[in-house]
Amino acid sequence: MKQIEQRKSDHIEVTLKEKVVPDYDYWSDVRLVHRALPEVDMDAIDTSVTLFGKRLEMPLVVTAITGGFPLAKQINANLAEACAQAGVGLGVGSQRPAIENGDDGTYSVVKDFDVPLVIGNVGAPQLVRQRNHRAFTLEEVLKAQEIVGADIMAIHLNFLQEVVQPGGDVNASGCLEAIRALAGQGPCMVKETGAGISRETALMLKGTGIRGIDVSGVGGTSFAAVEMYRAERKDDRVAMALGRTFFDWGIPAPAAIIEADVGLELIASGGIDDGLRIAKGLALGADAAGCARAVLADAMESSAAVLGKIERMKAELKAAMFLTGCSSVRELRERRVIVSGRTADWLTASEE
Ligand SMILES: Cc1cc2nc3c(=O)[nH]c(=O)nc-3n(C[C@H](O)[C@H](O)[C@H](O)COP(=O)(O)O)c2cc1C
Repeated sequence: MKQIEQRKSDHIEVTLKEKVVPDYDYWSDVRLVHRALPEVDMDAIDTSVTLFGKRLEMPLVVTAITGGFPLAKQINANLAEACAQAGVGLGVGSQRPAIENGDDGTYSVVKDFDVPLVIGNVGAPQLVRQRNHRAFTLEEVLKAQEIVGADIMAIHLNFLQEVVQPGGDVNASGCLEAIRALAGQGPCMVKETGAGISRETALMLKGTGIRGIDVSGVGGTSFAAVEMYRAERKDDRVAMALGRTFFDWGIPAPAAIIEADVGLELIASGGIDDGLRIAKGLALGADAAGCARAVLADAMESSAAVLGKIERMKAELKAAMFLTGCSSVRELRERRVIVSGRTADWLTASEE
């Protein structure tokens, strides 16, 4: 297996086998207020939303996971089939391998299904020159978009991972301009990969012409952790230490939703693994939620397993909407939330 294929395969294996989420549960800091008298007919609750101009049956996107190595084709096919059936969005993993080596079918397989919103993926580090490789051209990124028939391209920010990973792409200068150039060519959004987006970063991004932000904050998969376990296997002491030290580095997911709410479409993510967390993300101001790790084991199994997980989340979301007296997602976004613990500390301190 080539180095990049091995890395993709390791990411899946490590995420499934190891403890890659932080100890502190930021989502427990967020509570919705129970309405003993909901005054809503649960059967009439409408969970549909419009995200990036596409109608989704529920406010959920399965965010970028994989592509570019053999097992990825089945994973992406299972995800795409389930997302098409459930009427939710789907992002493919970093399309760097497809740009460098051409489409191998592991990404384009999503085109076999009628997914209502398909999100392509390219890394911001690949949009600028690095030690070992040149920047991708706009044409190459547009080609990646075509390969999956993406409605919008996600540009991922993963500098925490790059700094822990030996030989990572750590030239971040020029990324903002590169994002602006890409956003000038077609619909783009920016996503983190587990370390969150701050208000300062969100405001910088807003000026580039991107359509939306997926916060991917601390509380779910930590890529510092993923790289730490990979480093352990290679006995790379420096990378191990970096991964351990920066395990839970970043902006807590619920706080990032409030920080990154700068008037663009907003996706709440980082540790979303049930429908109650989706409801909390929306009540904090997001337009939809995103999850990756929560569906990974199911995606290894079958599309039916992924669909089952999404349906469970939908039932939980509906229950949360009912118990807060909401018959639409719009109403849920206006509901009061109680924020306590470290998340409240963060928000209070960041306002000072
Ligand atoms: C195995 C794995 C691979 C991932 N690969 C990518 C990727 O290629 N591009 C990207 O933008 N995000 C990638 N992510 C990040 C997710 O899209 C998401 O932002 C992050 O995992 C936080 O969500 P979670 O806590 O629900 O997992 C990956 C996540 C996992 C678990």
